[in-house]
Amino acid sequence: MKQKLVHIVTMGCQMNVYDSEQMLRLLAPLNYRPTSQLDKADLILLNTCSIREKAEHKVYSFLGRLVRMKRLRPDIIIGVGGCVAQQEGYRLVERAPHIDIVFGTFALGRLPSLVEQVKDQEKQVVDVNPRGSSELLCVKGPVFKVERVTAFVTIMQGCDNFCTYCVVPYVRGREVSRKPEEILEEIRLLVQNGIREVTLIGQNVNAYGQKNGHGCDFPALLERVNDIEGLQRIRFTTSHPKDLSDRLIEAFCRLDKLAPHIHLPVQSGSSRVLSRMNRGYARDLYVKKVARLRNVRPGIAITSDMIVGFPGEETADFEATVDLVRQVEFDGLFLFKYSDRPNVPAAKFSNKVPEAVKGKRFSTLLEVQREFTLKKNKALIGTTQEVLVEGPSKKSRNQLTGRSPCNKIINFKDSANCMARAGRILPVRIVEAFSHSLLGHPVGRGHGEYSGENGGMSYAA
Ligand code: 5AD
Ligand code: SF4
Repeated sequence: MKQKLVHIVTMGCQMNVYDSEQMLRLLAPLNYRPTSQLDKADLILLNTCSIREKAEHKVYSFLGRLVRMKRLRPDIIIGVGGCVAQQEGYRLVERAPHIDIVFGTFALGRLPSLVEQVKDQEKQVVDVNPRGSSELLCVKGPVFKVERVTAFVTIMQGCDNFCTYCVVPYVRGREVSRKPEEILEEIRLLVQNGIREVTLIGQNVNAYGQKNGHGCDFPALLERVNDIEGLQRIRFTTSHPKDLSDRLIEAFCRLDKLAPHIHLPVQSGSSRVLSRMNRGYARDLYVKKVARLRNVRPGIAITSDMIVGFPGEETADFEATVDLVRQVEFDGLFLFKYSDRPNVPAAKFSNKVPEAVKGKRFSTLLEVQREFTLKKNKALIGTTQEVLVEGPSKKSRNQLTGRSPCNKIINFKDSANCMARAGRILPVRIVEAFSHSLLGHPVGRGHGEYSGENGGMSYAA
């Protein structure tokens, strides 16, 4: 069989990053190899995101770029998968007739047969069937990742929470958890292939195992992952505050590999808005959980998501949000302007906030948070952070980059005898702080003498 090339464009969250890797594995038996060059590809796949309006616009603008390419090379196959595919189905081919395949979030496992169908029948195929799903599939096959030391591992998918603004329950379906044994096996395999840090992912990881009855809930799963030899760090995302149990909070103290960082989306500082969002907690409960996390694991980094301009958000509600941001002092905040999504209840709410007001609130909050992000980063100047080296920094060729346990990006110069390699954990003294990263120097005698294999740090001081 002639070798062909596939180029995947991944948009959106980590779930999509994981799914794109599964696509590569699924296509390997059809003799497709990945390429980073769009114009060399025989098969172009878009793994899309529909969480916000802006994300969906990105899909159509990328598809627009492919019109000319398809006209010049009609033999290339263009496939659109992920959340926009699930949401739009046939509407996608109507709007963009140069698409050959539409495969929804449940059709991932059927991708190879869809590609074959297009080749054989030379017609467009659409598969948005939510049944017979292959969700949470873990495809065994070649690992195409190179020079990576961190990996995402999907542990659950879907969401049963139905926050009133969110499209996820509609495009990803109900909560389903993978079997613990399958997850553990996948992580062991990743570790054998050089992975040192895993991030367990799912729309609401705290709900892991609650509906399927695998006899293992999320804290229990974490404990089992913690026992995997050779693995250095564990992270997880995303956590719903209402499901953040005391046992999970205590895991931050009990489990040595669990990194001291939690992404805990709050969405608003106003209990009135939280209730209209159907979040299932009030502001006070969130604040209490944050205090408990900091009590159990001092220095834990806390990041969050916040939506401004939710329908009916009044000035007083927004002020409560600003106040919460000042009170909690997040390490980082992802800010979003509310946008209507198809079929979500909030799309029908009255009292929509005008775009100009949303914009103003967005920049006000951004400014407030910027101060705290910088303050938190500056507090690390003079400290020594254990950096898991990921490789050369994107910005500067003679710098290496990695992350601290708290998930801060740390860049540092690799001195001649430093021997820093991807996969190692290296002590780095922080000398400068910016809003998105920190700059440091490896510490140690002779500018760093490090030994130790398998990424294990054995620092010769
Ligand atoms: N509008 C704006 N932001 C949204 N998010 C989810 N849905 C919407 C929407 N309709 C944000 C939430 C969520 C993050 C991934 O995206 O903050 O946590
Ligand atoms: Fe969406 Fe809410 Fe589920 Fe998160 S918890 S995925 S915001 S419905």
